[in-house]
Amino acid sequence: MYSRIAGTGSYLPAKIVTNADLEKMVETSDEWIRTRTGIERRHIATPEETTSSLSTEAARRAMEAAGVGPEDIDFIAVGTTTPDLIFPNVATLVQARLGIHDTPAFSLETACSGFIYALSMADKFVKLGESKCALVIGAECLSRVIDWTDRGTAVLFGDGAGAVVLTPSETPGLVTTLLSADGQYQDLLKFPYGVSFGFDKLRSGAKAGIQMKGNEVFKLAVNTLSRLVDQTLVKGGIDKSEIDWLVPHQANLRIIQAAAKKLDMPMERVVVTVRDHGNTSAASIPLALDTAVRDGRIQRGQLLLLETFGGGFTWGSALVRY
Ligand code: UT7
Repeated sequence: MYSRIAGTGSYLPAKIVTNADLEKMVETSDEWIRTRTGIERRHIATPEETTSSLSTEAARRAMEAAGVGPEDIDFIAVGTTTPDLIFPNVATLVQARLGIHDTPAFSLETACSGFIYALSMADKFVKLGESKCALVIGAECLSRVIDWTDRGTAVLFGDGAGAVVLTPSETPGLVTTLLSADGQYQDLLKFPYGVSFGFDKLRSGAKAGIQMKGNEVFKLAVNTLSRLVDQTLVKGGIDKSEIDWLVPHQANLRIIQAAAKKLDMPMERVVVTVRDHGNTSAASIPLALDTAVRDGRIQRGQLLLLETFGGGFTWGSALVRY
């Protein structure tokens, strides 16, 4: 028994912030942002929109594409670093919004790897016969945790959500997934306060935002993703020439280009959305996947390599026969 992606969906807030808009907020330039990151614009949630509301819209679209209804869903996993609340978890909020009852519903906080971690969990439930229709979501409202006066991070991130529905299949489907992490790098990319650490500071109004040593993260991301690609191909028993599409985490165009080079893949076979979405962390891969499915680039039967790297550090991949 395998799992397969029966449908994809995504949702972006309507509000767009361009590089030109950011030039008015911090000392930066469209030229710097485009050449160093590949980003031109990003979507930003309104105060009324939340991670669970974006997730719900993405989920509705994935369920419609898969031809399933709320009564069919029997498992919900959401990867996110920016939950609506400390608890209940985002997946339960999505469950309620969709009118789904009596299913497992949980969220995972593995930063940019959240969707791949959630996908890997769901794959196991489907493979074991414990789920017949799993909803897997990656969603973020990163705009809420950005320090909008820090040009080193404010220009990078965006909001959005992507989702897939997994169903059982006699043939893969998900060929293999690979997950990993190394907590020794926790200080290179983090939000400095949480619940059991620094909550009092947040309560008393301390200024806080995502902190990143960009240059060090960049080098580790390129090296780790290079190793990850090799390990994934070996684990899946696949030669790199067999991959039809690379669907990478969208943090920086230069990191994506390095991964494509490693695979000897022309950029025409790489799904790139960072230009329009910025870095949406856990949402970036399902957003990119849905974009390329809906515009007709990704076709049924093709082999996809999904790969990600983010805060923790955490990283992971999935080889998917779509
Ligand atoms: O998704 C999770 C994983 N995250 C990533 O993978 C992100 C990895 N890192 C990166 O993408 C890149 O390191 C950044 C895009 C964040 C930065 O690019 P960089 O080429 O590594 O630049 P840098 O940090 O080395 O900074 C170069 C210069 C510095 O000025 P000096 O010291 O050379 O005078 C920065 O102060 O660029 C300056 N700078 C900016 N200038 C204009 C930093 N941010 C900006 C900005 N606008 N927004």
